[in-house]
Amino acid sequence: MASAGFSRSVSARLSYRNVSVSSPRVSTSAHRKWLVPGYFFNALVLVFFLVSLVLVLGCVLYLYWFRYLSRGGNGLVSAFGGIAEGCDVFEGNWVPSDSYPLYNSSLCPYIERGFNCLANGRMDTDYLRWRWRPRLCEVPRFDAFEILERLRGKRIVFVGDSMSRTQWESLICLLMTGVEDPRSVYEINGNNISKTIQFLGVQFRSFNFSVEFFRSVFLVQQGLPPRYGPKRVKMTLKLDKMDNISRRWVDSDILIFNSGHWWTPTKLFDVGCYFQVGGSLKLGMSINSAFRVALETWASWVESTINTNRTHVFFRTFEPSHWSGSGQKTCEVTNQPTLEAKGNIRSEFTDIIADVVAKINVPVTVLNVTMMGAYRSDAHIGQWSHPSSILDCSHWCLPGVPDAWNELVFASLFRSGWR
Ligand SMILES: *[C@@H]1O[C@H](CO)[C@@H](O)[C@H](O)[C@H]1NC(C)=O
Ligand SMILES: *[C@@H]1O[C@H](CO)[C@@H](O)[C@H](O)[C@H]1NC(C)=O
Ligand SMILES: *[C@@H]1O[C@H](CO)[C@@H](O)[C@H](O)[C@H]1NC(C)=O
Ligand SMILES: *[C@@H]1O[C@H](CO)[C@@H](O)[C@H](O)[C@H]1NC(C)=O
Ligand SMILES: *[C@@H]1O[C@H](CO)[C@@H](O)[C@H](O)[C@H]1NC(C)=O
Ligand SMILES: *[C@@H]1O[C@H](CO)[C@@H](O)[C@H](O)[C@H]1NC(C)=O
Repeated sequence: MASAGFSRSVSARLSYRNVSVSSPRVSTSAHRKWLVPGYFFNALVLVFFLVSLVLVLGCVLYLYWFRYLSRGGNGLVSAFGGIAEGCDVFEGNWVPSDSYPLYNSSLCPYIERGFNCLANGRMDTDYLRWRWRPRLCEVPRFDAFEILERLRGKRIVFVGDSMSRTQWESLICLLMTGVEDPRSVYEINGNNISKTIQFLGVQFRSFNFSVEFFRSVFLVQQGLPPRYGPKRVKMTLKLDKMDNISRRWVDSDILIFNSGHWWTPTKLFDVGCYFQVGGSLKLGMSINSAFRVALETWASWVESTINTNRTHVFFRTFEPSHWSGSGQKTCEVTNQPTLEAKGNIRSEFTDIIADVVAKINVPVTVLNVTMMGAYRSDAHIGQWSHPSSILDCSHWCLPGVPDAWNELVFASLFRSGWR
């Protein structure tokens, strides 16, 4: 074997030298004699070269075009394909658009009554007709038909508090606009949506995929305190342990988290819930520090448990509320978005999320929806809640702002070459 290889390389080198040595001689001594064939030969080489060039260019153009068309045949991706690298899709403004809302709330059974403002008597409808426009690029419109096809055989999981439930409901309604038979879409256990339910999974039978929601408002484990703790400690958040239900989030294709609205003194200390790390209580720990520790636990869980070759992980930042008045108890829903970003944005939470995600060793996308929501004092539920005695300047009407979050999820997936 070795000798054969050697002899082949030697003979190749020899014949190369023969050619290179003899050809100049031919071209000088026999210049005149071979004038015509020489020209002919040169012309042939030139033509061959030009034809090759055209072919190569043609192939490159064709490939580029083909990929461009096949990925964005109906304009879904092309808008994003053309995005400037530096385009921050979360920086922009809301513009009026008659092509919104993207679905009819009375035709989607997965909007919970409390989020269906039209059904609860809201009369003004301008709030339904706004499109999010990033400053430097366009977000492709949600194309239910294309996305349904792409989701075949997949599993989408939302994890978090009621804001994640809203986004879950929004995505189901958006997708149902592309489904022929609404009866082919059903909750796996026949459950109705409620505020405290821990798991809801909606199956799209014709497309063989599910859109699931897991309620886990803190993401980490809540449980009994150590025995020797002070009496006021009735429960603890174990900041270094993921919620027990987390093992069910693992085999998913798209995994979207949020947390934040329950990290308040009222929902923690006032009900006797304090922080714990390992075996020890952390009575003096601030909520912001605890939030950071919990997110770091989440980050190492993502790193060690999630196969990010398969699963696209997102974390949504704080969704602003618009309470006003003394004690933040008044809820005045406007008819139009505000010109400036307003409301309670808890930007320290957004910063902590961005900070923790920046240190993860696997790809995770931050859905930085805080600022885009801050303009939308017109899009909250207000008095159009259910039961109607509740004022709500935290949650959003559906259709509405959560639809834009979902558009950004898919825009981001398509931009990263999602298959
Ligand atoms: C979130 O987006 C807003 C608007 O573009 C920007 O001002 C802010 O810095 C972003 N925050 C993070 C943590 O990326
Ligand atoms: C929504 O659907 C209902 C029931 O079919 C219909 O009466 C209503 O006109 C639709 N609304 C819009 C805005 O299309
Ligand atoms: C449905 O999708 C799963 C993957 O989630 C796959 O294993 C299964 O074969 C699919 N079923 C059909 C009927 O395509
Ligand atoms: C869901 O709600 C419907 C109508 O309110 C009721 O008939 C049904 O029993 C409920 N299903 C469950 C599982 O609670
Ligand atoms: C969570 O799981 C741990 C270990 O598997 C167990 O000790 C604990 O009791 C569980 N907690 C809850 C609330 O199920
Ligand atoms: C993910 O893909 C990379 C590169 O293709 C590969 O090296 C790695 O082993 C894969 N990880 C898993 C968990 O499949």
